[in-house]
This record gives sequence, structure tokens and C-alpha cells, in this order.
Amino acid sequence: MSDVPPSSIPRHVAIIMDGNGRWAKRRHLPRAAGHKAGVEAVRKTVRAAKELGLEALTLYAFSSENWKRPEDEISDLMGLMKRFILSDLDKFAAEDVRLHIIGDYTAFKPDIVALIDDALARTAGNKATTLSVALNYGSQDELTRVTRGIARDVAAGSIVPDAITADTIAARLDTAGLPPLDLLIRTSGEQRLSNFLLWQCAYAEMYFTDLLWPDFDGGTLKAALDWFAMRDRRYGGR
Ligand code: FPP
Repeated sequence: MSDVPPSSIPRHVAIIMDGNGRWAKRRHLPRAAGHKAGVEAVRKTVRAAKELGLEALTLYAFSSENWKRPEDEISDLMGLMKRFILSDLDKFAAEDVRLHIIGDYTAFKPDIVALIDDALARTAGNKATTLSVALNYGSQDELTRVTRGIARDVAAGSIVPDAITADTIAARLDTAGLPPLDLLIRTSGEQRLSNFLLWQCAYAEMYFTDLLWPDFDGGTLKAALDWFAMRDRRYGGR
């Protein structure tokens, strides 16, 4: 599928999936229809990520700020998430896709938490691609949790402040163990991070497209990878 040389393929791509509501509005459909179409785009993108050889794909599905949305929209999103896991888990298990969650998903209803725990356990040994789904995730919340953990360890005497390095922090992030983030994509024309992967974006390339999320697919992911392959990444050097 890919003619991008392997060396310039990003190892880890993250996507802010934005524009479901606008997609629905343009079609005079309810917002729920936009989210439903968004799930189809998720399926196409996960398939393409695996075919293109990405080691990790991280999707911003529900932020810690999304609780502010109307109750019926939250319940639509939860229902979609549930159906997505129920219908696609066997495929992930068979296709060597490992599911991972970033964010505190234990805040969700017990039936969803149980479904997620089962999906994590069933795919834990898979190796081809890690699909991380951000659920009740916010980067400031993640960094606050990490800071509290380090402060506790300092108070307990198991770590001295001068021994704290960037690696100490990275190892405690929800993304610990994943490859460094190479490419961040945001759809719908917005150009902000919205509290997503603030630490992890340090050296990520940023790709913005006007496409609304439900219109995203393997072809658009490939276009982002082609763009990425042209970038000259210097990591602060010259
Ligand atoms: C942004 O569109 C999208 C979301 C807040 C949710 C993303 C969720 C999905 C694609 C479906 C569930 C995901 C999985 C992994 C099964 P918006 O509603 O903010 O759009 P707008 O800015 O146009 O209103």
C-alpha cells in the first residue's frame, strides 16, 4: 500500500479526531450521526495504520473536558465506544492489534470498564500495532497524576529530587512504553492541541487538514505520511 520509504515512516501517529458535529450539521443530521460516521473513519484508519506499518496509533476519543457536553451526547459516545469494542475486538485479536488506553477510563460506567479490561487482556500479547484510545484523557491531568506520584516517592524517600529526569517523567506517562510521538494530525481545520499529549508533542511534526473526521480514511492517512516523509527533523540540532 505504501511507497513511502520505510525509514521515513513515523513509528507513532496521534490523531485529534475533530469535526463529527460539523459533518452531521452539513447533512442536516443529528450530531450522533456524525459520531457514528466517525467510528467508520476510526475503523478505516486503524486498518490503514497497520497496513502502512505504524507501530502505534493514538486516537483522542473522549477528553477529560468532554464531560461538559450534554448528557445525551455523552451517552451516544459511550454507546458507540461499547459497540465498537464488542464488534471489532475479535478482528483486533486476529490481526495482532494491541489495545491500550490512555486516561483514567475507570471513571466510566462499570459495564464499559469491564469491556475495556477484557479487551486489554485479550489483546495484551499482540505486537503489530498498538491502538491507544484516549478516554477521559487530558494532558494536564496526566502530568498532574505523574507529579503526584513522583512527589509521593520523594516524600517516601524512594527517589531524591536531583535524580528526577525527563525519563523519570516519560516512564510514568500513560504513553510509557510506546514509541516517541512522531506525527500529530488534527482534522477539521482547527490548529490547537486541546490538552492532548502536551509532553509527547515536544518533537512531533504537526499536520493539519480541513477534512472533517468522518471523511478521513487510509488515503488521507497516507497523504499525511507522505508529507511527514518530506520533513527535515532536527530535534533542536542543525
Ligand atoms: C470531535 O467532533 C469528536 C469527538 C469529541 C469524539 C470522537 C469520537 C469518535 C470518532 C467516535 C468514538 C471513537 C472510538 C474510538 C470508537 P466534535 O463533536 O467536536 O465535532 P464539531 O467540532 O464539528 O462539533
